[in-house]
Amino acid sequence: TDTYAVIGNPIKHSQSPFIQHEFARQTGQIMRYEAILAALDSFAQTVKTFQQRGGKGMNITVPFKLEAYALATQLTDRAQAAQAVNTFKFGANGTILGDNTDGAGLVHDIEFNLGIPIADKRILLMGAGGAAHGAILPLLQQHPALLAIANRTPAKALALQQQFAGHSSIAAGHYQDFAGTDFDILINATSASLQDKLPPLPAGLFKTTALAYDMLYSSKLTPFLIFAQAQGAQHLADGTGMLVEQAAESFFLWRGIRPKTQTVIKQLRDKLH
Ligand code: ATR
Repeated sequence: TDTYAVIGNPIKHSQSPFIQHEFARQTGQIMRYEAILAALDSFAQTVKTFQQRGGKGMNITVPFKLEAYALATQLTDRAQAAQAVNTFKFGANGTILGDNTDGAGLVHDIEFNLGIPIADKRILLMGAGGAAHGAILPLLQQHPALLAIANRTPAKALALQQQFAGHSSIAAGHYQDFAGTDFDILINATSASLQDKLPPLPAGLFKTTALAYDMLYSSKLTPFLIFAQAQGAQHLADGTGMLVEQAAESFFLWRGIRPKTQTVIKQLRDKLH
């Protein structure tokens, strides 16, 4: 039986086994999917052991996405752009293809599940850490009118802008720099929600038709989504859909079949909320 696994530290709360088992059941694929805890100093060794016992692929979660990027022997364009890897596909002779499905998962959720096309929209991406980084290329590939990256530490947003400088529609700065602009899609890729905090957003950024998207999935509205609602944003979404969509993209890389996500998203919502 082909075996896959998610690797992280901690790993107990990972929803990936639940999601991948649902995908396998739905598509009739015979596969195993495990959760593996790696010690903080033995990521590479743990991957190698799994590979040697015949593992076919892995999902990589916190805090190993950068180490996974370094360990891959080949990278997809989107993993290269993200400078982080969340999916391995093991090949012959010990090769490791590194992919990053997080940004594609976000784009799928916005376009297909929420039904909001990204083309020609003005997007505000909040944050300049790993989560924001992975979203940039997949968002730009949908040709938004503007992708503005706002960060508390503006130098990190400017560095991301530099990396993607070939794309004309990209801007970067502090949150205040975007006061006076209104956006169609506002995506919180900061870790502020984890501390029950809100990025320092000026008022007036949300169009009445705006989508406010928090990458975090949570049983209650995050401070960002509460603020967005008070600012009049029409659509609110948390990261549950993105979580399932990035998993579907990994499943597709491994099995060549794209599972349906809607029922799994609903199941996960019921499970988490
Ligand atoms: P991740 O991999 O989840 O993106 P990270 O690389 O540690 O995590 O990045 C965290 C991001 O959240 C950063 O953009 C950080 O802003 P700074 O670069 O200025 O530190 C942002 N962040 C964290 N807490 C925040 C808060 N309370 N308000 C605004 N931004 C915050």
